[in-house]
Amino acid sequence: MSTVTLQRLTHSYTGAPQPAVDTIDFSIQKGELVSLLGPSGCGKTTTLKLIAGLLRPTSGEIYFDDRRVTEVKPERREAVMVFQNYLLFPYMSIEENVGFGLRMRRLNRVVIRERVRQMLSLMGLKELRDRRPAQLSGGQQQRAALARALVLQPKVLLLDEPLSNLDAHLRDEMRELILSIQRSLGVTTIFVTHDQEEAVLLADRIALMFDGRIQQVGESKQFYERPASRRIASFFGNTNFLPGFKDKQRVSCPLGQFRVESNAPDGPVTVVIRPESVVLGDHGENSFQAPVKRQIYMGTHNRYRIEVDSTEWEVVAPADSAASLEGRRIAFSLPPDKIWLIPERVEGGN
Ligand SMILES: Nc1ncnc2c1ncn2[C@@H]1O[C@H](COP(=O)(O)OP(=O)(O)OP(=O)(O)O)[C@@H](O)[C@H]1O
Ligand SMILES: [Mg+2]
Repeated sequence: MSTVTLQRLTHSYTGAPQPAVDTIDFSIQKGELVSLLGPSGCGKTTTLKLIAGLLRPTSGEIYFDDRRVTEVKPERREAVMVFQNYLLFPYMSIEENVGFGLRMRRLNRVVIRERVRQMLSLMGLKELRDRRPAQLSGGQQQRAALARALVLQPKVLLLDEPLSNLDAHLRDEMRELILSIQRSLGVTTIFVTHDQEEAVLLADRIALMFDGRIQQVGESKQFYERPASRRIASFFGNTNFLPGFKDKQRVSCPLGQFRVESNAPDGPVTVVIRPESVVLGDHGENSFQAPVKRQIYMGTHNRYRIEVDSTEWEVVAPADSAASLEGRRIAFSLPPDKIWLIPERVEGGN
């Protein structure tokens, strides 16, 4: 179980206009499960391949604990990568597939058999050990791929979207399995996904990546409540925005003025508030009015689309009454402690 440290890690594919991984500085603690989250093409797989040693960085360094591994061959790094499409050998049985890495390391046959069988039991694959990959379901193949990696007792486990080929139900099951195995083995794990919900459900910490760069690192709550940019806020579920200007603890915006509790510097800001943080009704402070464009009944709650200064906001409130407010003006309030302000950089920011 190693601490993984990336120092100014950069990788440019030949001929590419910009680096796929761009000056990443990041550290993953021993035994930690970090989700590397970001949209398609942002550089997640490239980052994993660099850590696994399957790609050489253009510049920068990688350390496992104090050991510099930047040029160390993959098989000598004690990091294993599990690919999205499993890459099981089609003509080998599941048992042979899982034992492959140990045979390459020329371990004693009896030891191999023992370790493989233990791993197959742990993964619930014991009965399927003589089958070929094609004779397994997607979920079973995924478990076999995971077993093949874990049987090597890696210090660093690199999972590249391991659940994306599974249907929703299996995904829940596999996610819980990965979590419990990761916890019991304590293996340092990086879990790549482009699904923020998956990242939230699994990870100790999330590292969010756009355009080859890590944009924000933290627990999921920080991404919801304190997004560093508008783009990050949007990536993490529904968010309402408004342009404003902060002066001490007040913000002026097209709605009027309201009070905030914020340490953001004075000047132009983007006001960020989540749909569930807007309170319906006039509560004196920070109360405004807006027409309801649409009301959607969701069972336990209603979802309202309200027109706020030429943009539409979403508001979520308990469904106390089925009465429709569509077309009417309603009052709503912005609790000062729920408002987050993002300073607007002069150059436009991101
Ligand atoms: N072998 C390659 N040669 C050239 N460019 C590549 C190569 N592999 C990836 N890229 C480019 O590098 C960037 C990052 O790719 P990468 O596969 O790391 O993204 P990703 O975040 O894993 O995306 P996805 O979620 O779609 O898997 C992309 O712009 C991609 O087109
Ligand atoms: Mg990828």
